Amino acid sequence: MSTSAHGAMDLTLHVWRQKNKEDKGRFEQYEAKGISPDMSFLEMVDEVNEDLIRKGKDPIVFDHDCREGICGMCSQMINGVAHGPDDCVTVCQLHMRKFSNGDTIYIEPWRSRAFPVLKDLMVDRGALERIIQSYGYTSAHTGGIPDGNAVMISKEKADLSMDAAACIGCGACVASCPNASAMLFTAAKIGHLGLLPQGEVEAARRVRAMVEQMDAEGFGNCTNHYECEAQCPKGIKATFISRMNRELIKSLINPPLEVKEGGGA
Ligand code: SF4
Ligand code: FES
Repeated sequence: MSTSAHGAMDLTLHVWRQKNKEDKGRFEQYEAKGISPDMSFLEMVDEVNEDLIRKGKDPIVFDHDCREGICGMCSQMINGVAHGPDDCVTVCQLHMRKFSNGDTIYIEPWRSRAFPVLKDLMVDRGALERIIQSYGYTSAHTGGIPDGNAVMISKEKADLSMDAAACIGCGACVASCPNASAMLFTAAKIGHLGLLPQGEVEAARRVRAMVEQMDAEGFGNCTNHYECEAQCPKGIKATFISRMNRELIKSLINPPLEVKEGGGA
C-alpha cells in the first residue's frame, strides 16, 4: 500500500447516481482528498458527501445503520466486488487502508431485478423481507429460557445453526451471483431454524413456503458458481444450499399437513 507523507490518500471515485427507480442512472466522478487509512469506507463516503453539501449539491444516498457489521444495510459493490476487497467484512467494516493513494474506485448499488434501485446506492431489499415473512420463523411455543435450556441439542447442531444464524440479510449473495440467486440467504434462514428442535417441527412447511416465495420474487436458480459463498461477509457456506435442497425433496416425498383456516388439518 502506498500513501502520501501523512498517510492520507487522494482517490478518484466513480459513483453510481440514479434519481429514482425510473431514472436510467450514470456514473459521476468525484475526488476524495486527504482520506485517512484508518477511516471506514462509509466514513470516506461521508467526507465526500460533506463536500457535496458544502457545494450545494445532492449528497450520495446509501443505506447504513449499525456501522458494525450487524444490520446488513451498507450494501455496495466496490470495484465489482460485493462489500469490497476485504474478506468476511461488510462495507462499514472495510478500512481505507485496503486502498492505495491514487486509486480509482467504482461504487455501485446491488444489481438484481429483485432489488430495484431506489436512489443512488440504495436498493429495495423488500424481497428478502417477504421471504422471511413467508415462514422464516417458528410458531411453536418455545417457552422461557429454562425451557430452552432443558432441550438437549448436540454441539454439532447448535454450532451449525449458529453459523447459519450469522446471516445479516445484506443480499451480497444475490448481488454476486450471475443468476441473482437468493438461495444462500434462504438456505441460511431455513438451516438456522430447521436444525433446532423448536424449528424442526415446521421444517417441511417452512422450506416449501420460503422456496416458493423466493421463486415468486424473481430470484434466479443456483448453478454452483459459489460466488455467494465467496462474497458473503459472514462466511455462510454453500453447503446450507444442499441442506435446503434435501429438506425440499424430503417435504415433496412426505408433504406437510396443510393447516386450514379454522384449525382443521
Ligand atoms: S447469506 Fe451472506 S451474503 Fe447472503 S444475505 Fe446472508 S450474510 Fe448477506
Ligand atoms: S451498517 Fe450495519 S452492517 Fe454495515
